[in-house]
Amino acid sequence: MVAVAVLAAGRGTRMKSSLPKVLHALGGRSLVEWAIDSTAEIAPSRQIVIVGYGSELVRQALGHLAGVEFVEQTQQLGTGHAVQQVMPLLAGFEDNLLVLNGDVPLLRPQTLKLLLETHRQNGNAATILTAQLPDPKGYGRVICDGNNILKQIIEDRDCTPAQKQNRRINAGVYCFRYPDLARVLPQLQTNNDQQEYYLTDAVNFLSPVMAVDVDDYEEILGINDRKQLATAYAILQGRIKDHWMAAGVTLVDPESTTIDHTVQIQPDVVIEPQTHLRGQTVIESGSRIGPGSLIENSQVGPEATVLYSVIRDSRILAGSTVGPYAHLRGHAEVGSNCRIGNFVELKNTSLGDRTNVAHLSYLGDTTAGTQVNIGGGTITANYDGVKKHRTHIGDRSKTGVNNALVAPLTIAEDVTIAAGSTINEDVPADSLAIARARQVIKPGWRLRASTPTPD
Ligand code: UD1
Ligand code: CA
Repeated sequence: MVAVAVLAAGRGTRMKSSLPKVLHALGGRSLVEWAIDSTAEIAPSRQIVIVGYGSELVRQALGHLAGVEFVEQTQQLGTGHAVQQVMPLLAGFEDNLLVLNGDVPLLRPQTLKLLLETHRQNGNAATILTAQLPDPKGYGRVICDGNNILKQIIEDRDCTPAQKQNRRINAGVYCFRYPDLARVLPQLQTNNDQQEYYLTDAVNFLSPVMAVDVDDYEEILGINDRKQLATAYAILQGRIKDHWMAAGVTLVDPESTTIDHTVQIQPDVVIEPQTHLRGQTVIESGSRIGPGSLIENSQVGPEATVLYSVIRDSRILAGSTVGPYAHLRGHAEVGSNCRIGNFVELKNTSLGDRTNVAHLSYLGDTTAGTQVNIGGGTITANYDGVKKHRTHIGDRSKTGVNNALVAPLTIAEDVTIAAGSTINEDVPADSLAIARARQVIKPGWRLRASTPTPD
């Protein structure tokens, strides 16, 4: 059995932000969610998050995670003080406690599993994760004997110049035999540069403590400022893109593309440059997305294309083409083999198969059937200033250019609407609707010769 405590009470002064540091987003989720997620393979019996600065926000952000408990650290007096706050919750707990910093988001679940296994096999009082960093600045330094048994951890700011040369650092990831930790936690002092209670001092009090080096030091990057946040994002993106390329997806220009970890992409999809895939998005095989597109929480069916377009919370079925410059949002549903063209906006609208909306249109709150053709410049007037109303357009009907469709409105099947019409009454099946002023011709009419204006 193992319990997990995640340190997430600090403000994160170096972020220069009013948002608590651990809530800053790394791709599709916050730093602290990444930290919690890294415990996926060790099946913790309890997960305790220590909150303090902005605690309401942090509680809210983690509200969707079942089984997470919170404990308040009202004053942020250091990482050791933070862990002291879990003691009442863990009274009588005899097993191991894994402590993670909430600002270390890139840990792989296998790494924590390995840490825990090493800890158990060696019967250590504590086992800590370490790394050899090319640039160890800012991290606590770890000094060990030849057998990876810890001699001392010293914070960067408390190091002598000689100690600063040591490139083995403390990752902020610890596995403790909890009864041992509970014994030394009350002994912490604040005799250090920051005058804080350091968790690292608790480690210094225990024995034996073993250090385990992580293979890939990028995993333990701690986020203290915006630059490190951007570095972590680049690392995460690298992992995600490598994964999809290995799975048969072409990324024409990986550098200019971003993909959230929540996105699913099938083989033989081509992602063109400057394309961003976010949230719960699924792209099915053979589709071509981009250049220049943003797709969020949307499904794109097989063999579809999306060019220079923005698609949110929507669905596009097989073989349809979208763009350039289309905007789908608010549960737009496009059937198969449809064409959604230039400067078209679809909101809360569903289109049947083989329906085209090719130019300069807005369809809001509309249901159109199959093989409908929406003429260029057709706009639904779906809002009367108070409420939204729906427009229904039957199979095979055609609107004309510059039609205004005033909802609520039903246009039945096989209807044709004349160009320039404003339609505010239902149109029955198999008919032509014309609603515009007749053209007037005045034969022989000329502009009167204008009288010159005096200077
Ligand atoms: C800490 C370690 C350092 C290690 C580094 C790894 C200590 C004393 N130092 O330094 O050895 O190399 O992490 O990233 O532990 N927090 C609280 N309450 C507090 C203070 C901090 O919950 O009172 C939380 C923060 O929200 C953060 C985490 O603890 O998630 C780490 O705090 P931070 O101030 O960033 O520690 P570092 O200086 O990075
Ligand atoms: Ca940190």
